[in-house]
Amino acid sequence: MKQIFAKKPLQVLLDEVVSENRLRRILGPVSLTSLGVGAIIGTGIFVLTGIAAHNTTGPALILSFVVSGIACIFAALSYAEFASMVPVAGSAYTYAYATLGELFAWIIGWDLILEYAVASATVAHGWSHYFQDFISIFGIKFDHFISTAPFDISSQTGHIIATGSLLDLPAILITVIITTVLVKGIRESAGLNAGIVITKLAIVFLVIIVGAFYINPNNWHPFAPYGYTGISLFGKTIFGQTGPGGAPVGVLAGAALIFFAYIGFDSVSTHSEEAKNPQRDVPIGIITSLILCTILYIAVSGVLTGMVPYNKINIDAPVSNAFKQVGLIWAQFLISLGAVAGITSVLLVMMLSQARIFLAMARDGLIPAKFFGDVHHKFRTPWKSTILTGIFVTILAGFLPLKVLADLVNIGTLFAFVVVCAAVLIMRKTHPEAKRPFRAPFVPLVPILGIIICLILMFSLPEENWLRLFGWLLIGLSIYYFYGRKHSIMHKIMQNQENGLVGDEANTVIESDASNL
Ligand code: ALA
Repeated sequence: MKQIFAKKPLQVLLDEVVSENRLRRILGPVSLTSLGVGAIIGTGIFVLTGIAAHNTTGPALILSFVVSGIACIFAALSYAEFASMVPVAGSAYTYAYATLGELFAWIIGWDLILEYAVASATVAHGWSHYFQDFISIFGIKFDHFISTAPFDISSQTGHIIATGSLLDLPAILITVIITTVLVKGIRESAGLNAGIVITKLAIVFLVIIVGAFYINPNNWHPFAPYGYTGISLFGKTIFGQTGPGGAPVGVLAGAALIFFAYIGFDSVSTHSEEAKNPQRDVPIGIITSLILCTILYIAVSGVLTGMVPYNKINIDAPVSNAFKQVGLIWAQFLISLGAVAGITSVLLVMMLSQARIFLAMARDGLIPAKFFGDVHHKFRTPWKSTILTGIFVTILAGFLPLKVLADLVNIGTLFAFVVVCAAVLIMRKTHPEAKRPFRAPFVPLVPILGIIICLILMFSLPEENWLRLFGWLLIGLSIYYFYGRKHSIMHKIMQNQENGLVGDEANTVIESDASNL
């Protein structure tokens, strides 16, 4: 009991930052913001907007983006406070370790796999949609058999249907390419990312500015065909309409789905160790990237639903297809190309972040450090965990449908956001004196509102996601029980304290245990 609630002392975290075997500090505020934007704008805005507008919200998608954006801004302020206090690689995992104890930290670390690795698979799918849309402009088509996941959820009935395909080959190929780039190193990755982010922003501005000339205000009527609410409890509608298969619909259900589009700002905090001045620049990166994307998203969803009647919005490549529908093939060409490049950068940052989380957990002994903590002698990257992440993402991306993956990512990430907001509240109570270079405003109001909105969105996801989340956490708890709990460095420290070992003697025990992990 004592161990599972053992908290990692703030001072230990701060000492770790200056110790050996750390990542290189090369990222400034612009690179960090660009990593944020690179991680945020992707499959969510380019692909999920179509499914959401068509099946869940209608033009009221704009409001869904507002609601989800507000939830993220509250969570982002909490992330920023923590990132400035504890600038190490583990993000929400580390924050939980410092405030809620080891077991909770493990649960969050395990949950973050849903955010980063499963999101990478979702994003790889989105990439595949736009890549196929792009090559279709030249009359090239992938054989249907290798073009998508073998099954999907029918938008008419809400049931599982066979697609007649075996796997999503383009999604698999892009994952393999990104894994290779990441093993080579972050300097190249950050440079590549900056170039892609500029392209991506240019495309988003093109969509907003050119698209604005093609808006037909009649398309915004009815504005909310699926209702303004859609409040659900474990996927059962308690207020508003119900969609096919009993799934919740309406503005909140839409917000829970397109929440995916905002995921990524928090990944800036996983790069704290590579930041030159993390205390100042990581909060800047988190908040600037999120606010910028929120404004752009609201504009894009307004333009998209104004250009095409909501029930005619394409669900595979909705943004480029809207321009095709108004006859602007050159714009379709540029948007598909830009989306392919832009979604690539999301994949890059998401997969990079997953390896960073593993690294933090390995350092604490909760997963095998020899494997997950191994930093490549030449490239200085956590190469083994990067390759393992790559294999996991490849399998999911090749065989599972996009919406199923997106919902799972959303529930996992919302859960992590709830914990980070709660952790800020706890830390303010337990460590009121700690140095906070960035302080979230209006505490406790901001974290409390963050928790409430994130919970509402979690409840508004289809019910089966709760089961999947619990199933996932159960697997995680078993691993903790059989491995993490026994190998945890905190556990060793506590044992040493009980055995009266101090100083060098205690360090020797911990180090020899760590090298045997
Ligand atoms: N926000 C990221 C995307 O939409 C995960 O692709």
